[in-house]
Formats: sequence, structure tokens, C-alpha cells
Amino acid sequence: MNAEEEIRRRIADRGTVTFAEFMDVALYWSGGGYYRSTGDPVGAHGDFYTSPLVHPAFGALLSVQLFQMWLLMHRPSPFTVLEMGAGNGLLCRDVAEYSKNLPEGFAQALRYICHDVNSRPGLEKKSAATGECPEVFRLASGGYFGGAGNSPVNLPLVKFCGCVVSNELLDAFPVHQVTMQGGRLLEAYVAVEQGELAMVHDEPSTPQLADRLEGLGVALVDGQTAEICLGLAGWAGMVSEVLDAGFVITVDYGREAEDLYSKDDRPRGTLTTFYRHTQTDAPLRRIGSQDITAQVDFTSVINEGRVVGLEPMGYSTQKEFLQNLGLQGWHRRLTGLRLPQRQTGANRAGMVDLVRPGGLGDFKVLVQGKNVGRPGLWGFQPGASLVESNGLSDFIDSLPAPLMRPDHLDLTRGRDPGAEVQVEGYWPGFAVPGGDEEGRF
Ligand SMILES: C[S@@+](CC[C@H](N)C(=O)[O-])C[C@H]1O[C@@H](n2cnc3c(N)ncnc32)[C@H](O)[C@@H]1O
Repeated sequence: MNAEEEIRRRIADRGTVTFAEFMDVALYWSGGGYYRSTGDPVGAHGDFYTSPLVHPAFGALLSVQLFQMWLLMHRPSPFTVLEMGAGNGLLCRDVAEYSKNLPEGFAQALRYICHDVNSRPGLEKKSAATGECPEVFRLASGGYFGGAGNSPVNLPLVKFCGCVVSNELLDAFPVHQVTMQGGRLLEAYVAVEQGELAMVHDEPSTPQLADRLEGLGVALVDGQTAEICLGLAGWAGMVSEVLDAGFVITVDYGREAEDLYSKDDRPRGTLTTFYRHTQTDAPLRRIGSQDITAQVDFTSVINEGRVVGLEPMGYSTQKEFLQNLGLQGWHRRLTGLRLPQRQTGANRAGMVDLVRPGGLGDFKVLVQGKNVGRPGLWGFQPGASLVESNGLSDFIDSLPAPLMRPDHLDLTRGRDPGAEVQVEGYWPGFAVPGGDEEGRF
């Protein structure tokens, strides 16, 4: 039975399913949910692309941040990194590879676990088993983390010291959709009308929806639609359950609740669908073949974390986070590497895309901590890579700039290598070596 047949079967049994249950089946149903299919949804041949694909600097800078966390925790061995929603394993491969450049035996202490509903081995296996090599594993997820009537699944791990990492995991969690009509909060359900799947509205399936909005101080206005992810609580609980001491790094697109639920900016919510790099906004179509996603409510991620002992330690845009860790320095040094022009251009374009306003640069990075005190983290210290006094600048400057490999997406492919492409103008005051003052190359 494929995902659509399973949805129709449930509707035939019960009349309707909540939109959250629909989304859970459409994305995760073992018999053909979108994320269970054999193809990789990320990349040129998939439906969307993510930061790890754009440039290895993303994984490399994450590994620099993980290195500092390891130092702060007094160099535990193993230092476990659990990446939830690891997808094709590219981030793991890049972090593991780059960790070999970091001192004091960090790579040997690193144990990296890729966790995903899709248990198929990915690129993490390509992490060369040479020199000081981190241990890398893949762990199959039992599925969704609760809400929508599913029971939370447990992680088959003993408590560890280290860090839980995710990139674009939470935006893939099923969401309930609510709308305010005539002063009443209604929930979206999926039904069958004249043989077709259709969205209908009725009383909320659970009081938790109104409770969430009330707790956030959000009052929807008449006609306003919003998405609510109840799975965040189960996820936070599970993360805290396995983390004895350490950090949680969450990277995703989203906003704080006040902004996310703004009646002026997002009156119809943020639910959207992607199919072959096109935003299609038709969740009931192409079931199992297209991605369905909604922006993350970071206020609720923080609140649910606090309930289970995860304290927020930093929150910023991806642009600020990567710049604080030294992305600009690596970008600047590309010219000195004397690579072929096309390779220099491709690496520049990839690095810049990671911090592009209106794109990946506006993604958010949240770090939470458990039993680690309140240390300052390099990723949240403006100009951390420029702080001369503590030697951090020298340290980051001593690290090699990572270069794209065939697994990364060359954003300049198909372009004339000599063409002027303005991609760097938004790094203010940043003169591009080899380029003119406006950042053209
Ligand atoms: C948008 S993709 C991001 C993949 C990858 N992190 C990247 O940046 O390319 C979301 C990933 O989260 C995974 N995922 C969603 N829910 C999950 C769960 N409950 N347990 C484990 N993985 C999950 C999906 O299978 C998918 O690989």
C-alpha cells in the first residue's frame, strides 16, 4: 500500500485525518512516504538543496564549533555527535574529514552517529579511513517523535557526552494547521470529497493546539492560518534523555513565535511544498513524491527545551554564526590558493551562498546546553575570529580552507567562468581579492 492508499484507508475508517497525520504518512509512511523513497531528495536531481551540499565550509565550521565544545567539556573521549535527520550523510562526511585538521586528538575522540528514518548508508561512509579518523555510524530512526496520535519513539542509545546536531530536521516534522474563523479556532483535516482528497475544517483534535498559542501569547485574527508543531516536545524530551552533558545545535529556517505568527507578514502560515526545486504549495498532490515543510517556531523549540533541562546558549542567523567562526577569512584566502579560475569561482559562490540574505544566510542557529554551565561559544561571539588576545584568530587562520568536492553542488556550473557575477556585495566593507570593490569576480 503506498502513502496515498494508506491515507485513504484511514479516512475510510475514521472520516478524516488531521493535517499532521496526513503529513506524517505522506513523508514517513514505510510503504512509500517521501523520506522513505530510494532517491535522495537533496541535490540537483532532487527537490531542494541544503547547506552541506552548497559548500564543505558549513561542515568544517561546525566542526570548529564542536571542537570548542569538546575543549569546554575537558576533552571527553568519546565525544559523541548525534546528527538527527542526517539524510545523505554529507554533513557527517565533511565534519569528520575536517576534524582531522583540528589539534589535540579531537578527531580520535569524535564518534559521529548519523540518525535518520532512512537507514540506507550515505556519504558518511566516504570519510577516508586514514590517519586520525573519527568513528562513524548510521542509526535508523524508529520514526516520528510524537504528536498527531503517534507514540514517541526512543533512541536506542545510552546517555552520552557530546552534541546533538540537526540541519533542516525540525522543518520536516508534521504540523497541525489551524485557522481562526468567526472567533473560533478550527483545525484543518483531510477528507475525501467526490473521490478527491480535500481540506476541511472542524473543532481542534486536541486542546494542546490552543494551549500552545496561548502559552506563546499569540492571538490569531479572523481568517488567519498557522501551523503548530506538537512533535517538538517529544523531540526535546528524547534529546535530553540521551544527552548526559553537552550541547544541541539546531540549524533550520524559522522564526521566533511573535514573528512567525504575525498576522501582517504570514496571514496564511508557512506551510509549503517542494517538487524538483519548485515551490508548489499543493500539499494534497504528488503524495510521497514531494516535500512538505513549514517554518520552525524557535520560541517553542526553546520553551520545550527548557522544560527538559536544555538551556538556550545562543541564537543567531546562519550568516552571523558562520562569519563569527571565520568564513570570511577562508573566503578571502581562496585567491591565494592559486586554483584554476573555475574552481576558485565555484568555491567562492558556494561559501557566499551559505550566508546569502533571503536564503541560507537567514536560517537560524540555536544552541542549547545541558550540564555545561554558560560558556561563550565562538559561533555567537561577533568577531570571534578576529579576537587577537586569546589566539583564536591565529588558530582559525592556521586552519586550511576546505574546498568543494564532486559531492558538492557547483552553483557556477553552466556559467561562463569569466562572467561577472555579483554575489558578494552584501559582505559590507569586504574587498574581494581579485575582484573589484563591489565584490564582482
Ligand atoms: C530536509 S531533510 C534534511 C537532510 C539533511 N539534514 C540535510 O541537511 O541535507 C530532513 C531529514 O530529516 C529526516 N527526518 C525527519 N524526521 C525524522 C525522524 N523522526 N527521525 C530521523 N530522521 C528524521 C528525513 O528523513 C530527512 O532525511
